[in-house]
Amino acid sequence: MKKLLITLTVCLSFSLSAAEGGLSLPNDKMPELNGDRLKISMQRGMQVYMNNCMGCHALSFQRYNRTAKDLNIPEDIMMENLIFSDAKIGDLMTNNMQPKAAANWFGAAPPDLSVVARARGTHWLYNYLRAFYVDASRPYGVNNSVFKEVGMPHVLESMQGMQAKTEKVQGLENDINYAKADIASANKALEERSGNSSELNKTISSAEKIIHDAEAELTQLSSEGKYFTIIKEGLLSPEEFDKEMADLVNFLDYVGEPIKLERKSMGVWVLLFILCFGIVAYLLKKEYWKDIH
Ligand code: HEC
Repeated sequence: MKKLLITLTVCLSFSLSAAEGGLSLPNDKMPELNGDRLKISMQRGMQVYMNNCMGCHALSFQRYNRTAKDLNIPEDIMMENLIFSDAKIGDLMTNNMQPKAAANWFGAAPPDLSVVARARGTHWLYNYLRAFYVDASRPYGVNNSVFKEVGMPHVLESMQGMQAKTEKVQGLENDINYAKADIASANKALEERSGNSSELNKTISSAEKIIHDAEAELTQLSSEGKYFTIIKEGLLSPEEFDKEMADLVNFLDYVGEPIKLERKSMGVWVLLFILCFGIVAYLLKKEYWKDIH
């Protein structure tokens, strides 16, 4: 019982601290694919990756030939269309990015993305890649609503176009910021014992309610696709862009665990084996025990 209580308390405090971090929007579900469609999506994702990401983010745990084999891409097609450096087919997927210089340009060096899908999860990645929006206060004029103040420029602007938070969303986020400031100053006054404590507590609870309601409304707007609005069109429609991002994330998911496809298809055979063996074992048991009663 004690253990259970401790576990519950720990879980609760984790979920509370997660909630404290604020909302992460958009929070859309990535379409799930299986079998051949998944493999085709990964192939397409690799193309998007090599064209747009490889210059900054290496995948140095991965080799080109292994990728070609796993994703059913003929090696000559890979060499001609997907490798832009003088790398050979058996090489690791590295690039020439100098981390120090890059940290100077972007404020942070672009990390290797070999295991990013494991570290962040595909859901996070899918939303992150679709969450760049215009923000004049940032060095490259863009921010990201999933990874705030990110150093990465909006490298997919030509595909996606440029989006901005809608006026409604900006208004709600301002409300939240004002309410947070009210809570902070009320808490400070409570600490310093300056002011009427019941009044201050009232201020805090009404500000908390404002935050709660505004966050619920933001979540609703995001689920209706009304969090951002396109202010400059790109080459792709929003649906096409989302599809490309799902491809890209499927590719990164493959790189994060290259054995996954095999593991999944092997799982079916393992289960079938256990089933067949179970039948044989049962018949054998019946045979052995038939004269003993
Ligand atoms: C011009 C260089 C550049 C390009 C091109 C680029 N990125 Fe980045 N990316 C960065 C930088 C810099 C960061 C680190 C940002 C930080 O920590 O503030 C970053 C961070 C990230 C992160 C977050 C990593 C983490 O877990 O902290 C992901 C995911 C990512 N990039 C994916 C991509 C993908 C996918 C592409 C291709 C569509 C891409 N990037 C293209 C520069 C780039």
